Amino acid sequence: MTFKSCLGALGLVWGGWSVAAETAPLRLSEEAYQRNHRQYLLLCANCHGADRNGGLGGSLVPGNWRRGETAEEILKSIKIGYPEAGMPGFGALLPDAEVRELVAYLQEAPRRPMAETARKTAGASTRDLSAAGETFVLEDVATGLETPWGIAWLPDGRMLVTERPGRLRILGTDGRMSAPVAGTPAVFAKGQGGLMDVAVHPNHAQNGWIYLSYSQPRPGGGGEAGFTAIVRGKIVDGRWVEQQMIFEVPAALHSGSGRHYGSRLVFDGAGFLFFGIGDRGADGTAQNLAHPAGKIHRLHDDGRMPADNPFAGRAEVWPSVWAYGVRNPHGLVRDGVTGRLWETEHGPRGGDEFNWIEAGKNYGWAAVSRGKNYNYMPVKWATSRPDVNEPLLDWTPSIGASGLAFYNAAAFPAWRGSFLAGGLVGERVDQIVVSADGSARRETILKDRGRVRDVRVGPDGFVYLALNDRRDEKAGRIVRLRPAAAQK
Ligand code: HEC
Repeated sequence: MTFKSCLGALGLVWGGWSVAAETAPLRLSEEAYQRNHRQYLLLCANCHGADRNGGLGGSLVPGNWRRGETAEEILKSIKIGYPEAGMPGFGALLPDAEVRELVAYLQEAPRRPMAETARKTAGASTRDLSAAGETFVLEDVATGLETPWGIAWLPDGRMLVTERPGRLRILGTDGRMSAPVAGTPAVFAKGQGGLMDVAVHPNHAQNGWIYLSYSQPRPGGGGEAGFTAIVRGKIVDGRWVEQQMIFEVPAALHSGSGRHYGSRLVFDGAGFLFFGIGDRGADGTAQNLAHPAGKIHRLHDDGRMPADNPFAGRAEVWPSVWAYGVRNPHGLVRDGVTGRLWETEHGPRGGDEFNWIEAGKNYGWAAVSRGKNYNYMPVKWATSRPDVNEPLLDWTPSIGASGLAFYNAAAFPAWRGSFLAGGLVGERVDQIVVSADGSARRETILKDRGRVRDVRVGPDGFVYLALNDRRDEKAGRIVRLRPAAAQK
């Protein structure tokens, strides 16, 4: 039976989808509803959440539509997508009739009282939790933040927190959160962009420098576009002052894509600054050595170009490139034991990676990946290649690999020498243990407390997380894992 005749059988007259939908929404049979629910879980839940309340993609519940909520508009959203924003079009994969059923499913789902919409417990827990040989409690450090992105500490114990829409705040040692620091750079706050990481210079006590990464609006205007940029500055009396530009790209390279900015900031203690930039949602960038996107970069901490970067002397290579072929490096950390640089990145659908980043090496994207296409079209890449560094671990399905920390403090002895990797869609923290032979294994130590965007080890040795509530962008929080036995 065709879709039209199916409508006929339901007693509807087909006179154009929007008319049909607005006057008499298509009711799916129970069987069709369940089939489309499974289809939704397979194709869409990855980004929009199993309960349709959002994740990487927005919420698909009534009242929250940005692209229009008539059946016609939803149909168009699904068929054509918004590739620039990270929504793949499904028109090539699904026949129109199946897309229409998905539309009907999305319209009907909110009317059903479903177990699947039961709210998971977010944030703090008074109960003791145990994982990987440690017992801890989870406690709130700060609440009511809008998409907290990065955390860092000043030498006096105060904490700096960025909120993605463009705010930098200071959490006092008395637990009081400051007003936003005035005068931080304007951001291109579209999609995944905004104010991102914050890092404190290792010699901050002497020089006062604080570093910020952000999506810089295209210099000189010229339309809706941005690119990852880095500044440093100082905070004096609640104001951002003495700002210096550390990294920016020419206006011509700015892009309208709201995706894949990367941008974690890492100092190596020897005067260098490392950071990653994602592919900006354009497949060709990461393998193009002339382009700054899809790379791990290295600069002197004052922004000067090092003379000894791996491609030094090759005029066609973007000079700060340290390693290339990364998709969206959202976690970057240097371990204080071996001094090596480690990275986590988002794969396409599956194929999130944990990598040891070595100078001059290729990490494969978009020619090599273990992931699949979001819209289930055949992939264009290989799963391995001799000249491409393999990840030590990959996550399939994706966890939305985010902040990455190296744990070497005293509070959790069993975790010493291991990594803690956050996941956005996975809403979890995984411990990663790398063995001497280079193999790695992972174990989930926390789950279902919210989207984990940053993971840091505090000066007290406790583990701090920036959590995002996918239902409510303004309900982000900082929590910490404190050993159950430790005093507050
Ligand atoms: C890879 C991630 C991803 C997948 C998979 C995905 N989406 Fe999306 N979707 C997005 C993003 C990101 C947006 C926001 C685009 C924008 O408005 O800028 C979006 C937007 C939408 C919109 C428009 C919402 C609005 O506010 O008007 C609809 C409808 C939608 N998606 C439906 C679906 C359906 C149905 C599926 C599965 C067949 C799906 N999406 C799969 C990422 C995804």
